[in-house]
Amino acid sequence: MKGMIFTRLIEMADTMLGPDRVKMVIAEACLPSGGAYTAVGNYPHSEAVTLLDAFSAASCMPVRDLLGRFGEHMLEYLHRRYTAFFEKCPDAFSFFESIDSYVHVEVRKLYFDAELPRLVAARDSPGRLRFDYHSSRHLEDFAAGLIRGTLRLFLENANVTQTDASGEYGPCIRFIIEKQHPPSHVL
Ligand code: HEM
Repeated sequence: MKGMIFTRLIEMADTMLGPDRVKMVIAEACLPSGGAYTAVGNYPHSEAVTLLDAFSAASCMPVRDLLGRFGEHMLEYLHRRYTAFFEKCPDAFSFFESIDSYVHVEVRKLYFDAELPRLVAARDSPGRLRFDYHSSRHLEDFAAGLIRGTLRLFLENANVTQTDASGEYGPCIRFIIEKQHPPSHVL
């Protein structure tokens, strides 16, 4: 897993727990890397799981909620760092559609060793997108946070549900993203 994920996770924990508490939590977690990460380095997935568990215990926030919040935090960072990817897209649906065929392809060029999921988007109707997340790493709650962050960024109101659609092609979580019309009193 890329060091960038670890550095952003620690950044978020700093805002939630304060830097001193975070340093203590990291020290107590006895991580193989010692808790020092560079953005371009690669570290074991298991170390991210250990860190998440430790931050979850320290903040009394369930791991799934923490991962979702981390996805939203990460999306803000990705937008600041890679603004061009977002500017190419007129709305959230077209951004989601660009991840697999463009964004993660460019990411692979920057980081040849990146471990990327497959994200297959298909429009059921103009206001409804199916977004299938295929990965053995089971970071669907992180993906859900990235999706919510994207919708917020594009100022779009949508309902997001997720179901397990795993099958012969391996693990798959299906997100259904349905645009909501503004409530009638706003019209
Ligand atoms: C809503 C949009 C996006 C979704 C749902 C998404 C989903 C994910 C997920 C779930 C992972 C974790 C790896 C896995 O589960 O197998 C991941 C990894 C990653 N993604 Fe995306 N992504 C999105 C947008 C982006 C953007 C805009 C960028 C950068 C410009 C980006 C760059 C990366 C990088 C660098 C990794 C780390 C790979 C590694 O650790 O080796 N993603 N993505």
